[in-house]
Amino acid sequence: MYRGRFLAETMIELGYDAVAVGERDLSFGIRTLREYAEKGLPLVCANLFDGGERVFPPFLVKKVHGKRVGVLALLDTPPRELHGLEIRDPAAEGRDALERMRGRTDVVVLLAHMERGRLDDLLPALEGVDLVVRGHTIDIESAAEDCSDTTGGAFEDAVRPILFAGDRARAVGLVVVAAPPGERVSLVERRLINLDAAVPDEPATAERVRSFLAEEGARRRELAVSKSIPRDERTGRIVERYLGVDVCARCHGDLMPRFILSRHFRAMETLRARGEAENSACVRCHTTGFGRPTGYDAETEASGAPYLQGVQCEACHGPGTLHERGGTYAASGRSSCGACHTSTWSPDFEYDAYWRRSAHCGPAAADSAAGER
Ligand code: HEC
Ligand code: HEC
Ligand code: HEC
Ligand code: HEC
Repeated sequence: MYRGRFLAETMIELGYDAVAVGERDLSFGIRTLREYAEKGLPLVCANLFDGGERVFPPFLVKKVHGKRVGVLALLDTPPRELHGLEIRDPAAEGRDALERMRGRTDVVVLLAHMERGRLDDLLPALEGVDLVVRGHTIDIESAAEDCSDTTGGAFEDAVRPILFAGDRARAVGLVVVAAPPGERVSLVERRLINLDAAVPDEPATAERVRSFLAEEGARRRELAVSKSIPRDERTGRIVERYLGVDVCARCHGDLMPRFILSRHFRAMETLRARGEAENSACVRCHTTGFGRPTGYDAETEASGAPYLQGVQCEACHGPGTLHERGGTYAASGRSSCGACHTSTWSPDFEYDAYWRRSAHCGPAAADSAAGER
């Protein structure tokens, strides 16, 4: 969407006279394209209809060196999603437009968004076209040939000159035609100008492109980060995962010396000492995330899953993938205790007293050392 908008705005800025519609331009719906047209992008298409009405003008007439140049555009390939749009027969709509252009133009240019084969089939039906500029995604093999970096695009030959637009604006085509009154239009010169280093950048446009690319780089990085977080396929919501204390330790290392000595962290050893480490009735409160997606599971842990034994950080704070920084991730710890400190297993539980005793991540080393002595 934002790439399309950048291209449309830049084309308006550069002063394009006529722009044909391609099927991929319709990816974001006709409303988006209409917005570009309202902002000044001169979109043309004779056979694109919405609710029985043609969406854009079928052709435009431009004065070029005193001659009236008519530009007609046709689209052949339907987009993946039509969204209620209709692409009518290019032959019939093209003929109809040419009929209306008769007498109003000296030269007729057809912008054909279609494959070469389709164009060849279509052209005999379109009497009055002097010159064709074709564009459309081409198959990979011919793309390599037509759009290699050195040529940027290629001219295609037929009875009427067909010019191929190339891709990625790597070249501009120059066409000179003669249109003497009463005579058939004839081609005087045609040439591809590669936009290589020999063609200097236009400063304002170069700046536009530079800032767009910088913005896009930032967006891509953002996207990559958000993609690396697993999401629910149906709802698109982030699926949280337990990461294990080793991950927390990378940044919260200051808490670790105390934490690894704490009873919370050593809760699994308590069970082991009693031969109950396999008993899921005990394990659920002496490990992290037991019974929850990606939480402690003896089998997966044995096959290299994050180490989630003992009551780790995420047992109180919840899985660490999102790791909110606005105070909610810290606060989530406060409401966690009750799940394990039940009346059966912790009849004396009282938050303030227990919180002080737990000292968050275990009492300071000096305190416990004092206690041991
Ligand atoms: C996932 C379960 C679980 C959660 C959540 C949990 N605890 Fe515990 N807690 C335990 C277990 C199990 C032990 C006993 C560990 C042992 O000795 O093996 C324990 C022990 C304790 C102890 C005794 C340790 C000591 O040093 O005396 C305190 C205090 C305590 N928890 C406080 C809390 C507080 C406060 C919260 C909430 C902020 C909380 N716990 C949340 C499972 C949990
Ligand atoms: C509902 C959660 C829960 C379950 C289930 C659970 N525990 Fe605990 N366990 C705790 C909590 C919380 C404590 C800490 C109690 C406190 O200090 O107030 C604890 C403490 C202990 C202690 C230390 C007691 C002490 O004071 O020295 C042992 C031993 C223990 N549990 C063994 C087990 C065994 C064995 C099972 C399974 C039969 C089990 N636990 C099941 C939550 C649980
Ligand atoms: C027994 C539950 C429990 C465990 C285990 C636990 N926390 Fe907390 N943590 C809390 C609670 C509750 C708070 C919120 C304290 C408050 O603001 O009332 C908190 C607060 C925090 C804060 C906010 C800043 C601060 O220090 O107050 C950070 C950071 C934090 N915890 C990181 C960790 C890390 C890292 C671990 C594991 C090494 C961990 N916590 C283990 C319960 C726990
Ligand atoms: C890449 C570094 C990094 C890792 C890994 C990390 N944290 Fe943090 N964490 C931070 C930073 C930075 C803060 C903000 C500290 C501050 O504001 O003082 C923070 C804050 C927190 C807070 C308080 C957040 C709030 O505002 O509610 C909690 C709780 C916390 N971390 C827990 C964890 C836990 C649990 C893990 C492991 C699953 C973890 N962190 C892993 C860097 C990290």
